[in-house]
Amino acid sequence: MLLVKNIGILQSPVGTHSLSGKEQAKNIKLHNAAVIVDGGVISKIFADGELPETSAFSHCTVIDAEGRLVTPGLVDCHTHLVFGGWRQGEVHSKLRGDSYLDILKLGGGILDTVRNTRKLSEDELYERSKGFVEEMLALGVTTLESKSGYGLNLDDELKQLKVNKRLNENTPMDVVSTFLGAHAVPTEYDGMADEYIDYICEVVLPEVKRQRLAEFCDVFCEDGVFNVEQSRKLLLCAQKFGLKSKIHADEIEAIGGTELAGELKAVSAEHLIATDKKGIESLSRGGVTAALLPATSFYLNKNYAKARKMIESGVPVAIASDFNPGSCPSLNLQLAINLGYIKYRMYPEEILTAVTLNAACAIGRGESTGSVEVGKKADLVIWNAPDFETVCYRFGTNQVKTVIKNGEIV
Ligand code: NIG
Ligand code: FE
Repeated sequence: MLLVKNIGILQSPVGTHSLSGKEQAKNIKLHNAAVIVDGGVISKIFADGELPETSAFSHCTVIDAEGRLVTPGLVDCHTHLVFGGWRQGEVHSKLRGDSYLDILKLGGGILDTVRNTRKLSEDELYERSKGFVEEMLALGVTTLESKSGYGLNLDDELKQLKVNKRLNENTPMDVVSTFLGAHAVPTEYDGMADEYIDYICEVVLPEVKRQRLAEFCDVFCEDGVFNVEQSRKLLLCAQKFGLKSKIHADEIEAIGGTELAGELKAVSAEHLIATDKKGIESLSRGGVTAALLPATSFYLNKNYAKARKMIESGVPVAIASDFNPGSCPSLNLQLAINLGYIKYRMYPEEILTAVTLNAACAIGRGESTGSVEVGKKADLVIWNAPDFETVCYRFGTNQVKTVIKNGEIV
């Protein structure tokens, strides 16, 4: 058993479902609190200094939070962390005017990372990704989603997904796996996106399903990548295999991906940089969570998603890192928190919900994590901060003091 005592403020959203509208800003804030953990699960919560001074806790490992803030462990619901190589050389050409999609059209960008990922063995990819997972744990992330999408053929997609599985089994991090075989049209299918979608549906998805390597299917629905019809076909096919839908939508151009997310009642639509009123209405009608990625807006030198409008329209908002070697080579979810505060103008309470409960719900983990409540996993962050406003305000340093995952100090 574990006892975390002397918590200055214990702040958390509440529940197992994503929170929208005014509910997104509702956090409990317990003062002078303590948490008891039994078997990796939260078993009791005390507030207002009511922790009894008894020998009942003498057998507990005790962590003294010394008056600090404690929140749920962070959930990063959108990453591409299994990849080979980096793409530092691309930044130079982007700053001189080449667009992200121009670079991809010329066989660079995602396709460059595909070449580097195909070259690595599963073990090599595992070792590299494990390093990223360790960094993320140290930054307060206790659950994450990891997408494939740098293999773009049967063997190399499965290789990435197997790495997700191993990371989930062999590191403290809970890793939720998403199949993103439709991340780009591979060179072998150049000019044949329809045929590539058929290949995924007929050859790759059955194997992903058979080996139970993913829970979600995502698609890069974007100008010059996969159009709405191709995305719809793929996601409906994946749904038949039991994979729930996610869509990279409106990252660069609004070509209808957000409306498709609403139509298919996707679990989440992700990016939404270019999403307008019509797209927001469609998310709201379809009960789709908006997974927003502000560090990508920063790194692409783009606009920021209209988070306030989404919240006002009743769309649950999650915030994630989008860690990948192209549009966002940062795995620091705390940076996304800062950008959510300054650029989205979200309130600290809304942001905490966005990086915990709403993010957990966006990857099907709302029942087990995303809030500090009796019965949920004991995934906690003790911050070097007195309140979450301070976490949103300070930037550029790791503000985490201690991370507890499944009741164990990481
Ligand atoms: O979310 N846009 C598609 N996928 C990633 C970028 C991948 C890459 O550039 O390697 C994203 O931005
Ligand atoms: Fe992404």
